Amino acid sequence: MPEIHVVRKDNRHLYESYFDPYFRLRHDIYVKQRKWMALDRPDGREIDQFDTEDAVYLFCLDNGQLIGAMRAVPTVLPTLMSEIFPYLNIRGPICRPDVYELSRVFVIPERRGEHAGPRVETLLLTAIMEFGISIGLTGFSIVLESWWLPRFERCGWKAHPLGLPHMMDGMSVLAVLVDCDDVTWTSQCNQSGLTRPTLTWQGLERVRRRALPDIFLPPAAAFQPAR
Ligand code: COA
Repeated sequence: MPEIHVVRKDNRHLYESYFDPYFRLRHDIYVKQRKWMALDRPDGREIDQFDTEDAVYLFCLDNGQLIGAMRAVPTVLPTLMSEIFPYLNIRGPICRPDVYELSRVFVIPERRGEHAGPRVETLLLTAIMEFGISIGLTGFSIVLESWWLPRFERCGWKAHPLGLPHMMDGMSVLAVLVDCDDVTWTSQCNQSGLTRPTLTWQGLERVRRRALPDIFLPPAAAFQPAR
């Protein structure tokens, strides 16, 4: 099964060789394929002002190949929602240590829509929930296209709209706040048949993490009666 790696400033040096292909993939996917021309750059790498050293990336690697990714940015720093799309959030700016903004989720075209085992996109959504509960987050803010909403519903994500959808370049776009909690992660794992946590924290052994719920214990061990 593909592995999902947490990459942040403290362990970025271990993944340095992935960053150039990663930004090039983003250019191929968002500029060439999705035609988000505002993101175009002459060097063929899609990088924006939120790719700072405080951004956290989930890299999905299969036999060393980057096949999908997602970005998470602390909302105590500038985000897409606060800087580019503030009008989508009529509830007021989100600037909280327990909320990260998610963006740039993608799977390479050859690995989309897979049905054997959990699909890469499902793995990424489960992994980001695991990341969130591990570091004590309570929510994810996201600027997204409306077609994500039924997908979130299906995987058990509770998305609360922060304003009305707006049409942008033919896309219906809105801002949401998604709950990040043990229950959502547990049900995602059960739904996708995952029997162990998905994240690899290589080089991040010192990062303080909350214990994950014991959902992977066999029932007999989990519910042993007190003597
Ligand atoms: N517009 C509308 N619906 C879309 C869509 C789009 N641009 N992209 C995906 N979907 C929906 C559709 O319902 C699609 O079903 P279909 O096959 O009947 O069209 C369904 O998602 C499945 O998408 P698919 O691409 O086959 O597989 P996936 O679930 O493995 O991957 C993504 C989903 C979004 C990760 C993948 O499509 C991707 O990487 N897209 C490019 C990056 C992107 O647009 N990311 C979102 C914004 S950051």
